[in-house]
Amino acid sequence: MLKVLLAVAVLASQGAPSVAAGAEGVLPKGVVAKVGETPAQREARTAWWREARYGMFIHWDMSSMAGTEISWSRKGSKPLDNHGDPAGYIEDPAYDNLYKNFNPTNYDAKAWVKLAKAAGMKYLVFTAKHHGGFCMWDTKFTDYSIRNTPFKRDVLKELADACHAEGLRFGIYYSPRDWHHPDYGVGDNSKYVAYMDGQMRELLTNYGTVDVLWFDSYGKGDALNFWRIPETWALIKSLQPQVVINNRLAALSATNNPPLSRGDYNTPEQKLGIYQDTRLWESCMTIVDVRGGGWSYRPDGKVKPFGETVRMLVSCATGDGNLLLDVGPDATGVIPADQSDCLLKVGEWLKQNGESVYGTRGGPFKPGAYGGTTRRDKTIYVHVFNWPESGPLKLPNVAAKLVGARLLAGGKGDAAQTESGLEISVPEISRQKAVTVIALEFDSDVMKFPAAVTAPLAALELK
Ligand code: GLC
Repeated sequence: MLKVLLAVAVLASQGAPSVAAGAEGVLPKGVVAKVGETPAQREARTAWWREARYGMFIHWDMSSMAGTEISWSRKGSKPLDNHGDPAGYIEDPAYDNLYKNFNPTNYDAKAWVKLAKAAGMKYLVFTAKHHGGFCMWDTKFTDYSIRNTPFKRDVLKELADACHAEGLRFGIYYSPRDWHHPDYGVGDNSKYVAYMDGQMRELLTNYGTVDVLWFDSYGKGDALNFWRIPETWALIKSLQPQVVINNRLAALSATNNPPLSRGDYNTPEQKLGIYQDTRLWESCMTIVDVRGGGWSYRPDGKVKPFGETVRMLVSCATGDGNLLLDVGPDATGVIPADQSDCLLKVGEWLKQNGESVYGTRGGPFKPGAYGGTTRRDKTIYVHVFNWPESGPLKLPNVAAKLVGARLLAGGKGDAAQTESGLEISVPEISRQKAVTVIALEFDSDVMKFPAAVTAPLAALELK
């Protein structure tokens, strides 16, 4: 237990707006009607997603046989991505034929779901179709699918079933870019759009509840009328109105991008989002570091250490966002041990510290080199990465009285509230290597405070 030293609390009133107020509420006129949803309804629909905080991204197809980057290592043309290339499909004899020998006999959807759960993840997003165009489900719209591999099994179906059986939220990644499809980027693209909409109908009809639709962006050839976003959007919403959708279905130009297709959340990629409590966001990060991606199986890459991985999660949570951590299963269907070991360590950390992550909001202090804070009801969770060289960790004050404190992983320390702020001291022996979490309990709600900038880092004398 932390010993709490109570000094004179500064109870200055702060008439601040609630962080929970969905500040995105200011949609242009007409859009709310089109979406059929008010900001409050949107907030209710997406609440589970925000509370979840942590999900598993899986990039997998037959590119794992080559161990090179999914789709990007395909040497055929990349219509609408290579400047100067004509639109249309140009074959890559090696990549485009890999699937003919794709036979991941160790694929076990239940094992993946079990791993995600043990890792503390609350949802999963799987690449049903990446830019290379190969479909990991039994689609009737193309022969370029898992059905025509020696494996034959509907990988997506097995994964959806396993998620539903185990209570893990299920998400589908779909790339509108398709460097393999002969109609992609041809003419006004309408034939391809019909293909995409047909597949959307399939995916949202045959796989039970889809909790997340994770679109990747379009290629460079975006042009007005090249996509039919409002129609695609309406189709999706008519089939699964509850689905949470990321922001990449939005076309690049504002004209071709009705505000509704900004989707539900932002998707910073390979970077940790900064503090933002006015719109949902999720950083997608690879667990493997390697040049040119690391989304799919890359034996030439290096798995991030546990400390870095858990700090990424904490950085997202303290910034009021989610982390979608990507793994790349190998060609046999297994998530390699170096990746799963790291995931399980984070899972262990979450067993002790999860109350400071799930269902919390970021703030009231903004993240900094010291770490960051999350909060729920009357509790502020201080996540410390770096301790001051000497003296206590100092944070600004809040207009509530400190009444208790505890270290989530156990141990001893002091928490004090003085006129100048909050001071936390934890001796070396009670500090955790990666992140130490201290729960500060107050006599009243701490959700009402606006996010405050923390004390200048220099004053913390960081190591
Ligand atoms: C990029 C890459 C892609 C990856 C995605 C994940 O857009 O093209 O390979 O799937 O990021 O965010």
